[in-house]
Amino acid sequence: MSKLTDNFGRQMEYVRLAVTDRCNLRCQYCMPAHGIDIVPRQELLTFKEMYRLIRVLTELGVNKVRLTGGEPFVRKDFVEFLKMLSYNDLLDAINITTNGALISQHISKIEALEKVKNINLSIDSLDREKFAKITRRDVFPEVYKTFELLEKSSLNLKLNVVVQSGINTDEIVNFVRLTKDKNVAVRFIEEMPFNGTGQRKMQENWTFNKILEEVKTEFDVCEIQSEKSSTSKNYKVENHLGTFGIIPAFTRTICNDCNRIRITSTGTFKNCLFDDGVFNLRNFIRKGASNDDLKELFLRLVKDKPENGFIAEANRTKGNVSESMSTIGG
Ligand code: GTP
Ligand code: 5AD
Ligand code: SF4
Repeated sequence: MSKLTDNFGRQMEYVRLAVTDRCNLRCQYCMPAHGIDIVPRQELLTFKEMYRLIRVLTELGVNKVRLTGGEPFVRKDFVEFLKMLSYNDLLDAINITTNGALISQHISKIEALEKVKNINLSIDSLDREKFAKITRRDVFPEVYKTFELLEKSSLNLKLNVVVQSGINTDEIVNFVRLTKDKNVAVRFIEEMPFNGTGQRKMQENWTFNKILEEVKTEFDVCEIQSEKSSTSKNYKVENHLGTFGIIPAFTRTICNDCNRIRITSTGTFKNCLFDDGVFNLRNFIRKGASNDDLKELFLRLVKDKPENGFIAEANRTKGNVSESMSTIGG
């Protein structure tokens, strides 16, 4: 039972931590092609600081961490950090979200770490040219190699597919076809406005229902049980080895069960993906805050978690949601 309970009775058990804002790709829905403001190195949390923040959170009841970026494997010694985090006996699971372009050589090392259980791999197209257009880098063969290695490994694998109108919507059915022989959970994600340009690009016509309708043009599907606080509603096609799901990231029908808090790569604490960050933890610990100070702070901060993402967005002081997902960590 987590002590980190908000005013709506939701318990925070899952922290998402962005280990860097840097990325080796430039996905169109996440970043502009050029002119990205990279955070100066000294403003990023160090691994020691991250370890400490996670330790304090686990002492308050968090039991899962998801490491994101940017691309986590861009950060030097990330695999060493995974080992370090594994020493936290209060953590049940260390999960990672990655673009997969740098990790094929690390998979056996990751598999050996008992607490690393779930890898979510971003793969928005199964076509090399289209993949290069979306990510602005020609790395599909390497990402697909990672996919095949992960699929054969003991790690649980989910594929993240951001549905982009007129770009990869013709591949929705192909992705579901992939679940026939592969033990993988494909998740289609509604595109959100975090592309670092300040121009909202909501794909009005590619919301949850439309994605499901598209799958149903080819397959009979049945809904399956989802884990508590899952971001996706999940389905299966009869006789398929894998499953598929849809994440209503933009229409935000998942907020009632939310158990997540976030720490950005610069140490900003976020109660919600859509708030503008409620506290600078980095400055607080660099000024000498003790673990008890941190505990008191976390207990206070989570109380004010907004009821849902729409309210969080409405209360932003920095205006529109114009940050890049790479700085927030997804
Ligand atoms: P697991 O449930 O542990 O598999 O992870 P996840 O689905 O939360 O993580 P992942 O990093 O794969 O994120 C998939 C998509 O869900 C990304 O586009 C995230 O931004 C989005 N997402 C994750 N958490 C939330 C949330 O609390 N609210 C909203 N609206 N979207 C979220
Ligand atoms: N909308 C939806 N999902 C996004 N991601 C990155 N940017 C966006 C966006 N604008 C996804 C990535 C990754 C996950 C952490 O967030 O594809 O899988
Ligand atoms: Fe990099 Fe992920 Fe953003 Fe793509 S979505 S540019 S892989 S951080």
